[in-house]
Amino acid sequence: MPGAAKISTKIGRLIVSPRAYEKQRALFRAFRWLRANNPLGCVEVEGFDPFWAVTRYRDILEISRQENLFHNGDRATTLVPRAADEEIRTLTGGSPHLIRTIVHMDEPDHLKYRSIVETRFTRQRVRTLENRIRTIARGFVDEMAARGPECDFVRDIAVRYPLRVIMHILGMPQEDEPLILKLTQLLFGGEDHELGLHVEANNDPARHAKQLLRVFGEFEAYFTCLTEARRKAPRDDVISVIANAEIDGEPIGHFEAMSYCLFLATAGHDTTASSTSGAIWALCENRNELCKVMADRRLIPELIEEAVRWTTPVQHFMRTATADTELRGRKIAKGDWLMLCYLSGNRDEEAFDRPEHFLVDRKSRNIAFGYGAHVCLGQHLARLEMQIFFEELFARLAWIEIAGCPRRSASAFVGGPKTLPVRFRMN
Ligand code: HEM
Repeated sequence: MPGAAKISTKIGRLIVSPRAYEKQRALFRAFRWLRANNPLGCVEVEGFDPFWAVTRYRDILEISRQENLFHNGDRATTLVPRAADEEIRTLTGGSPHLIRTIVHMDEPDHLKYRSIVETRFTRQRVRTLENRIRTIARGFVDEMAARGPECDFVRDIAVRYPLRVIMHILGMPQEDEPLILKLTQLLFGGEDHELGLHVEANNDPARHAKQLLRVFGEFEAYFTCLTEARRKAPRDDVISVIANAEIDGEPIGHFEAMSYCLFLATAGHDTTASSTSGAIWALCENRNELCKVMADRRLIPELIEEAVRWTTPVQHFMRTATADTELRGRKIAKGDWLMLCYLSGNRDEEAFDRPEHFLVDRKSRNIAFGYGAHVCLGQHLARLEMQIFFEELFARLAWIEIAGCPRRSASAFVGGPKTLPVRFRMN
């Protein structure tokens, strides 16, 4: 990669450091500097293969919309240290992926697999679940009221609500919620010692990869039982759809079916939970905005967009160039690895007026759900869940404020608030 585009080691280390995503301040300063001075720069830091950091909103869109030029499947789809990548390839016999789900696929497979469940997550289809989701949301608002005047909004409410919704949609028994929550947190916890695996990918890649495989193994044992049951007696749920799906006239492979179930059961709640708690955190710190949205609940759709922009729970995805190309005057070579820095794109001054402000009446599209062929399959569900939750909450909430020290998880991939102590009053 050409020297002129190189990002300083200091900034490069921040971009690869899970701790920087927990603290955010230095990372945001670095992203701001990069957007202004080196928006498509090359990161070369010890322990990682070189990659391009894409920090501008417009460039992230440009890359995401060209799914044939920028592949998901050719290399790891998330940033992993070189040693961890090598370990994974040894364990899998050459593949950079421990599982194979639609985020790891390119055309023609991607579309074939995505269409298996796509119709279940359209805007119209998720609307039909409104009554059920509202009952669940109301239950959690009741529980919050019962816990008053204080609770940990993340632990007590935000992580449990979308988990219950997605488990209902997938057709998973409610009593399995604690198991699925624990496994999700192990998977997405990054290097957060309170949530994730107790080993760092950089320091001990072999142990890290084996621990990940163990988590996948637990998911596999769980979903093998469930998919077998749904093959014998299908129900009107998404696990039945996956279990009985066909690809090119053949039953879906076991590995792909397991990967699909695992992905929906994890990505389908953790991100929505983070956006919901991110909204509450930001509203508590921006009292004018809280008053604005509580006085005019027609602003809830804008609040939701602002919350996903502000929180950006999926902080990056990687792409791999399939041919030599040029972007922003940089020569990208075939095989180059690119990091789509959604967290930076969502604070891009070119795309957002006063991006450092949390504004509940902001009218702009953000990049938190991605773009193009891989755009988030669950975006309509996530928006509906948040819409209903805030409608139910604001119908009863008189006041809320932070009552302790909120913290984010230390993860460079999927992240967000992990604890948010609040004090509140309900009507
Ligand atoms: C606020 C909540 C959520 C956020 C911020 C979010 C974010 C994302 C992002 C950034 C991507 C990658 C897009 C790209 O590469 O262009 C993605 C993909 C995906 N998301 Fe979400 N997501 C959320 C909720 C959900 C939910 C509730 C589900 C459950 C159905 C879900 C399922 C998926 C799936 C299956 C993909 C892969 C799509 C593909 O590769 O074709 N997500 N999401």
